[in-house]
Amino acid sequence: MTDTPDKVVRLERVDATGLVIIDNPPVNASSHAVRQGLTEALAMAQADDDIDVIVVFGAGRTFIAGADIREFGKPPLHPLLPEVNNGIEASEKPVIAVLHGTALGGGFEVGLASHARIALPGTQVGLPEVTLGVLPGAGGTQRVPRLIGIPAALDMITSGRRIGADEALKLGLIDRIEAGDVRDVALRMAEAVRAGDLKTWRTGDLAVTPDETALEAEAERLDRTARHLFSPHKCVEAVALSTGDLARGLTRERELFMECIDSPQRAGLIHAFFAERAAARIPEAGTPPMQVESVGVIGGGTMGSGIATACLLAGLPVTLVEQTDDALDRGGAAVAANLAQAVKRGKLTEDARAAILSDALTLTTDMADLAEADLVIEAVFEDMDIKRSIFRRLDRICKPGAILATNTSYLDVNAIAAETTRQEDVIGLHFFSPAHVMRLLEVVVAHRTAPDVVATGFALAKRLRKVAVRAGVCDGFIGNRILAHYRKAVDYMLMDGASPQQIDAALEDFGFALGPFAVSDLAGLDIAWATRKRKAPLRPPEERYIAIADRICEMGWFGRKTGRGFYLYGDGKPVPNPDALAIVDEERTNARITPRDFTDDEIVARVMTAMISEATRVLEDGIALRPSDIDAVFLFGYGFPRHRGGPMHHADTVGAAELVRRIEAWARDDPYYWQVPPLLARMAQEGGTFAEMKEREWT
Ligand code: 3HC
Repeated sequence: MTDTPDKVVRLERVDATGLVIIDNPPVNASSHAVRQGLTEALAMAQADDDIDVIVVFGAGRTFIAGADIREFGKPPLHPLLPEVNNGIEASEKPVIAVLHGTALGGGFEVGLASHARIALPGTQVGLPEVTLGVLPGAGGTQRVPRLIGIPAALDMITSGRRIGADEALKLGLIDRIEAGDVRDVALRMAEAVRAGDLKTWRTGDLAVTPDETALEAEAERLDRTARHLFSPHKCVEAVALSTGDLARGLTRERELFMECIDSPQRAGLIHAFFAERAAARIPEAGTPPMQVESVGVIGGGTMGSGIATACLLAGLPVTLVEQTDDALDRGGAAVAANLAQAVKRGKLTEDARAAILSDALTLTTDMADLAEADLVIEAVFEDMDIKRSIFRRLDRICKPGAILATNTSYLDVNAIAAETTRQEDVIGLHFFSPAHVMRLLEVVVAHRTAPDVVATGFALAKRLRKVAVRAGVCDGFIGNRILAHYRKAVDYMLMDGASPQQIDAALEDFGFALGPFAVSDLAGLDIAWATRKRKAPLRPPEERYIAIADRICEMGWFGRKTGRGFYLYGDGKPVPNPDALAIVDEERTNARITPRDFTDDEIVARVMTAMISEATRVLEDGIALRPSDIDAVFLFGYGFPRHRGGPMHHADTVGAAELVRRIEAWARDDPYYWQVPPLLARMAQEGGTFAEMKEREWT
């Protein structure tokens, strides 16, 4: 009995082996059609007396990579994956799973329900559900502890980490690693079962040793590290049930899974998953990128050395240029220190670090050494005149076709490009500090940037394992433009009565790792001060200006690096800086402001509404291609809480009408700052959401 080849799951009989092949590109997600197909194929294999062993495997590049997460939140359709898996486990005929690629989530759970698991070398298994705001809901929380015990199961399930085949074998998650073509391995393993060389059994029959200590320790750890999150705690609750009856455990696991599905965090986390991938859909996606085999970086400060480190870690040789020998030494030392950190974190061996420093990094004070570089990234001080002169020199030095990139975070890339005779080769590559750690890369496309240069920016990001987001040219591009706007709302609240500590705490409670004042202290208050001074001549007279941070900077207090800013930094936890608070009081008195109380909810509402307002204008101006690109920028560059999906996803949860109502109410006090963007007004009237907003024509 053999199915037609066009089905998403087909049964093929080869002698006495029933091959159940899942063929649902790109990642064989267990959609409703796959679950239905698996049920039918397994039933056919059971009914076929000529089949004695059944082997399940995936066509293409992977086994099942998980449930089809686009189905989450919609009414569940039978057969559900737990039903499919229970059917597999109950099968009288042995069912083997041959895993390759990534057997994740519901995919690995199909494997767990099978009577033996074989992996091809290089396979990765895992239960990443927690990263999507759910828990393994097709038997994972009950069957994994049966295989590897409670402590290892907790680690796997609450971290969601991927586990390589070798470790999986060591842990006991799989039975064997077999090399070869997946179909050949499937046939070979069926033979091994028949010959008695491969043992088969039901995972559900195994007993779990109770371990209250491990459960309590994990619950306590999560209370500290994941207090904002819903699903990790539910994972522990589900694993705790694995010591009891399997059927009862599975029923409760399903209930907990559905609680997670209904949680807004699940929607936020899945939105974040798709936002990351959608950002790669750019008009230039079909254009082949150029080859980049060597990189020049100008500037060895924090940004330049971070960018150089990121490129070196991705295997690219880097020539780092500084003006003086001293600055060059500091830049080289910063790269070496960054690489040492990578060794510490296990991302690099000591030998690899030494090899990079001796063979791949060139330090020079002569810009002419960039003549042969495929890509040059300028990362010097944010000063237009300096950048202009550098690009004039690069235009003379660099070989034809080299990409000339600026890492400016605010300045006009069109004006920088105009200094060259090759504007089509000029682009903005805006890294975020520390550049070898932060995942965001804003690819800033100037008016005349060529499509293959844009495509190369995206290809570079992929090579550096970063998330690239396409941005148009404006002051601050996507992220910093929005930040500059909502940061004012923060300062207005500070002036009107909230303390830096209350504002920080309210936003940290919302889910940010650090509040805005703690972030400013970390980044260095002098950086934003320099930007404010640069923009001062452009400041509209109607705009309210808060000078508190300027006054703090005038004292020489730049935050962490000087030991004091909004907070005092000593050996222990930072404490509020009383002198900064005195400046706040003075400024209020000078402005005749009687401080008023703010609730934490109002603080969050004002910050989020300001952020969303400016983000809406960024969309209106065509600076971002789609709302979810703005979410990606904030998730990967600004520490926006991932479970809230990003500012535009958050906007949809609040609703356009409520946002407009808030803006109109606050505009009574400050009509210049609080203005309703026309797009938001239209959405409020017509009832639309950012999620429904059509992407531009080319998608
Ligand atoms: N459902 C639906 N679509 C999925 C998907 C899934 N589980 N996983 C990936 N896709 C889509 C992606 O959106 C992308 O679509 P696009 O081309 O239209 O943008 C396409 O498949 C390819 O994905 P990637 O670009 O991510 O490809 P990679 O090769 O880089 O990575 C992967 C492949 C490792 C499988 C990665 O996609 C991934 O991690 N997927 C999610 C895996 C996961 O979390 N599984 C658990 C789901 S929850 C679950 O199983 C619940 C169960 O317990 C009941």
